[in-house]
Amino acid sequence: MRREYLTTPMFGKPIKILLLGGGELGKEVAIEAQRLGVEVVVVDRYDWAPAMHVAHRRYVIDMLNRNAVKAVVERESPDAVIPEIEAISYEALEELEARGYFVVPNAKAVRIAMNRVELRKFAAEVLGLPTTKYAFAENPDEAVEACEKVGYPCLIKPEMSSSGHGHVKVLEPRASSVKEAYSYAVAHARGKSRRVIVEEFVNLETEFTVLTYRHVGDSNNVVTDTCEPVEHWRYGKYHYIESWQPSKRPGEVLEKAREIGIRIAEGLGGLGIFGVEVFLTRDGRVLFSEVAPRPHDTGMVTMASQELSEFAIHVRAVLGLPVPKPRVLTPAASLAIYTDNDGVWAPRIGGVYEALKISGVDIRVFGKPFTYRDRRMAVVLARGSTVEEALEKARRAASYIVVE
Ligand SMILES: Nc1ncnc2c1ncn2[C@@H]1O[C@H](COP(=O)(O)OP(=O)(O)OP(=O)(O)O)[C@@H](O)[C@H]1O
Ligand SMILES: [Mg+2]
Repeated sequence: MRREYLTTPMFGKPIKILLLGGGELGKEVAIEAQRLGVEVVVVDRYDWAPAMHVAHRRYVIDMLNRNAVKAVVERESPDAVIPEIEAISYEALEELEARGYFVVPNAKAVRIAMNRVELRKFAAEVLGLPTTKYAFAENPDEAVEACEKVGYPCLIKPEMSSSGHGHVKVLEPRASSVKEAYSYAVAHARGKSRRVIVEEFVNLETEFTVLTYRHVGDSNNVVTDTCEPVEHWRYGKYHYIESWQPSKRPGEVLEKAREIGIRIAEGLGGLGIFGVEVFLTRDGRVLFSEVAPRPHDTGMVTMASQELSEFAIHVRAVLGLPVPKPRVLTPAASLAIYTDNDGVWAPRIGGVYEALKISGVDIRVFGKPFTYRDRRMAVVLARGSTVEEALEKARRAASYIVVE
């Protein structure tokens, strides 16, 4: 429904959102909601997660525990329950939705998107979207069969995991290495499932995140649209490093990527933003990879580039406010800052004077209370007159930054 008014937090009958997961993406969602006078409740598994610093109230629970999730939502009775990570009891979300709570974008979308097998079936077999070649397996012998079917090299991924956990590349048709890879994948899965997806390993030309959003239109219809695709690239050991906007890839490639975004978001339904991950392969295929029904880490660049960031879009869409298609106002780039240090409490972020001396450069420090190896602690944002200039500034700024 269209929302015609906003409210006052903490008093009267405020509009209230509850975030399940309060990481750096949740923090920006919370800030955008605060700007609109929305009451913000943040839930995470540890205290003083980034978004808790900008929330009205916070709770620390095990989010995989169905009763714990239900209890906190029922106690707060929010207007929207906004999942920020995948590791949440979806049974709780389904039950809450059945009882009338608004789960963003909807409980089924959350369930499908967190499960690689279900998501691939949905995208490739129900929607007919182009994807990498794939097969599923539930035991070592089936894994061998699946690899044979898909061909080599291939990737084995557990059905549930995030940030690349449990992904193994299989280079050659040797049953023993496939079985070993299978065991590794299931051992690193979230939950007890033994199912995996085997995917053709493609040579990537580049990767996009198509931020696609569904919001309430003028006549209470739901409108689906996309932002300009965000292009991104990974270097070295880290999982995600640089992203930028606008992409200069050929128009027809970007158009295909956008279409994939629209079809997946329309297929999953509900309201809010979706980070739709799309591959451009060296042999020119534009393939759907996966989707996060929420803001995406590669989309942080939109805080520098767009009229409305992905976080502002998400909050507006969830609340029933309009989202006119956000223009890219300037070329921009973002670069994530990781740490190598394990277990440092209250880390210091050094080098910021030199970094922030560069015009057009900004930093977001997430405020995570402790480090672990390869944890993302901050992001550098840079604007330039070209994408190249923005990337150069972001890299230069990031080279000064040390987490200690
Ligand atoms: N089939 C593939 N062929 C080649 N590269 C791939 C393939 N699948 C994944 N990758 C690479 O690995 C990255 C992570 O894969 P994927 O998105 O499936 O994992 P994830 O656990 O969801 O990670 P993230 O949280 O970073 O998105 C992709 O963005 C891409 O760079
Ligand atoms: Mg991914």
